[in-house]
Amino acid sequence: MTTPFVWGAATAAYQIEGGVAEDGRGESIWDTFCRRPGAIADGTSGEVAADSYHRWLDDVELLDGLGVGAYRFSVAWPRVMPNGAVNKPGLDYYDRIVDALCERGIRPFVTLYHWDLPQELEDNGGWRVRETADRFADYATVVAERLGDRVKDWITLNEPYCSSIVGYAEGRHAPGATEGHGALAAAHHLLIAHGKATTAIRTVRPEARVGITLNLSPAVPANDTPIDRAAAARMDLLVNRQFTDPVLGGAYPDGFEKLFSGVSDLSFRRDGDLDVIAAPLDFLGVNYYYRIHATDAPYDQPDPGLRSASDIGVRSVPRDGVPTTDLGWPIEPQGLYDTLTGLADRYPGLPPIYVTENGVAQLREDLDPDPARIDFITAHLAAATRAAADAPIDLRGYFYWSLIDNFEWARGYGPRFGLVHVDYPTGKRTPRASYEWLRRQLS
Ligand code: NOJ
Repeated sequence: MTTPFVWGAATAAYQIEGGVAEDGRGESIWDTFCRRPGAIADGTSGEVAADSYHRWLDDVELLDGLGVGAYRFSVAWPRVMPNGAVNKPGLDYYDRIVDALCERGIRPFVTLYHWDLPQELEDNGGWRVRETADRFADYATVVAERLGDRVKDWITLNEPYCSSIVGYAEGRHAPGATEGHGALAAAHHLLIAHGKATTAIRTVRPEARVGITLNLSPAVPANDTPIDRAAAARMDLLVNRQFTDPVLGGAYPDGFEKLFSGVSDLSFRRDGDLDVIAAPLDFLGVNYYYRIHATDAPYDQPDPGLRSASDIGVRSVPRDGVPTTDLGWPIEPQGLYDTLTGLADRYPGLPPIYVTENGVAQLREDLDPDPARIDFITAHLAAATRAAADAPIDLRGYFYWSLIDNFEWARGYGPRFGLVHVDYPTGKRTPRASYEWLRRQLS
């Protein structure tokens, strides 16, 4: 029997919920970061967002109307365990959503960590410290105990690259740090958190299917020169293989220690960590948006003590002739093909794969028509399907990002990724042409 292909749509708690001070929710690093002057392009925050804390049933109805088989959403850690203790009303909120999904035959895919670390944990070191991984496993246990009778599909982390490198090295995301050692420690501890949570979920729910979602961007040399080829390889280590190699292969990639020797002695690593990190997966979630055209660009920070882990002497540059989205991201479905076939080549015994995010943003406020989004989905799905035909890839599903317009992190509310338009002042939802198109495909 072949496993049916699942169509879904995705969202994340801080980007849609709002209700940040309701029913005992604690603060997260994003609440704090958004208050930092200049951190968010339009000076906004997720305080109200798409108001899904109150309008969650509208969102479930939209999913039902669309006809998707699955919904990927995230649970907010600070709602469920604001100060290390369980907050029942927070869990009740997700319980209601899960019930409403199941009543409509929509399979919940729950992401446990989509970047909203409780602020109290950041105050104790955040992902720089190993203790946070243990706290994450405790939180995963609490959620799996409560929802695991109905939720079978669990995603431990969303895009640990962003939580570690973008948050602790580039400083563009919460907590807004620009560190070397600390950022690499964050990446390592996130991976340990993933491994520990995987075991914790299976302990309380042996029937659970557990995976992790990684953002993968193939890095290609901007020019066919030895220095740009080397730059692309460095970028690949930083963005992709820092995560795929330990999780799927149980080892850090060759060249990793050398690449970061100027910023960290990697002393946060301990014997046995890689066994924890490489706990067998039931599936891998792949978020694909674009590929990176990498060029050699020596970093110009004279004091190595001040180098962040993102200073690897590489710059990502626009590529002539490649169309881009409103955010300037190159539109190259071939990159998704290369990502998937590359995984199959590199990692024997690759687990089943879901594309857990893929989508396009428009900066325009107008509703329709949005043919670019329809073309984007069509082309990327075709690339993924072609990859699964050409390589040993068990492709199980595709989730569009996002169901509704939402808070796009440091870019604020400008970029609109939704199949459904949200009028933020009123919270009103209006399906776009792409929603209607997808509904017809799925009916
Ligand atoms: C990846 C992230 O998981 C999601 O939160 C974000 O909105 C999309 N990419 C688009 O940038």
